[in-house]
Amino acid sequence: MKQSLKLFLGEILNNDEIKLMPRAFDVIGDIAIIEIPSELEAKKKEIGKAILNFKHIKVVAAKAGIFEGEYRTRKLEIIAGEDRKETIHKEIECRYLLNVEEVYFSERLGNERIRIARQVKENEKILVMFAGVGPYPVLIAKTMKMKKENVEIYAIELNPVGYKYMVENVRLNKVNIKCISGDVKVETSKLGLKFDRIVMPLPKDAGNFLETALNAINENGIIHYYGFSDNKEIFAEEVKKQCEYYGYNAEILETVACGAFGPRVDRVCVDLKIKNLPRA
Ligand SMILES: C[S@@+](CC[C@H](N)C(=O)[O-])C[C@H]1O[C@@H](n2cnc3c(N)ncnc32)[C@H](O)[C@@H]1O
Repeated sequence: MKQSLKLFLGEILNNDEIKLMPRAFDVIGDIAIIEIPSELEAKKKEIGKAILNFKHIKVVAAKAGIFEGEYRTRKLEIIAGEDRKETIHKEIECRYLLNVEEVYFSERLGNERIRIARQVKENEKILVMFAGVGPYPVLIAKTMKMKKENVEIYAIELNPVGYKYMVENVRLNKVNIKCISGDVKVETSKLGLKFDRIVMPLPKDAGNFLETALNAINENGIIHYYGFSDNKEIFAEEVKKQCEYYGYNAEILETVACGAFGPRVDRVCVDLKIKNLPRA
C-alpha cells in the first residue's frame, strides 16, 4: 500500500525539505517502511513520529540499505513506534507473518500474485521456486480452496527464516502446501517430479535456474519467469531464445511489467508455454 506523505509532514519540514521526501512509503502489516533522504537524517525521528499518525501504523522503519545477498533482504532502522520488525500483513483473504528485515516481502507485488493465481486450473501440480514467506503458494492454495478445486503445490525457499515463516503462514491460512527448505536446483532435482506450472520470482538471477525449471516442466506446462528489463518485449524474446538454447520450444503467452525497479527499468514477468520436450 502506498500512502501520501506530504500532508503529514507540513509541521516538521519546510517546502524545500518536503520536496526531498519520497511521495509515498510502503506499509507491511502495521510497519511503515520509508526512505529518509540523507539531507534529512537529523530529522528522521520527528518524521517517524509524524508517520505514526497514519491509521494502523505502529512501527516506522527507515531503509538502511538495498535488497541484497542470496536472501534478498534489506537492513532497516526503527525510527519511531514499537521496537519490533515482525508483523502480520493482510492481503485479500491471506495473512502473512514475517520479519521485514530477515526475509524478502513486497506488498507491491500483490496484484501480480493475483494475476498468477487467477491462471491456475483445477488439478494442476505447481512448483513455486524462491517462495520466501509463501505469498505466491498461499494465495494460489487459498484461491483454489475457496473455489473448492484441487491443486498440488510445492514451494522451495533457501533462507531458513523465510522457510520457517512460510511453514507458519501455511498453518495460519489453513492451506495445504509442501514446503521445502533448501536450494532450488538441489531440491527440484531431488523431487524428480514434473509440474504443470512453475513460478520463478527471482528477477535478479532467474536465468541461473531456467534449465532446472525446463527440466521439471510438463509438456504444455507454463513457466512464469521474472526479470528486470527496460524493454519487456525484447526481454521475452531473449528468454524464449534461452529456452531454445536448452532444447525447448517456448510460446510467449503474455509479458507484463509488474513494478518499477529503477528509472526506466521494470520488474517483468513473461509467461511461457513450453511446447515440446528437449531434442535428444
Ligand atoms: C525476490 S525474493 C521473492 C520471495 C517471494 N516469492 C515473494 O514474492 O515475496 C527471492 C527469494 O528467493 C530465495 N532464494 C534465493 N536463491 C535461492 C535458491 N537458490 N533456492 C531457493 N530459494 C532461493 C531468497 O531467499 C528469497 O526469499
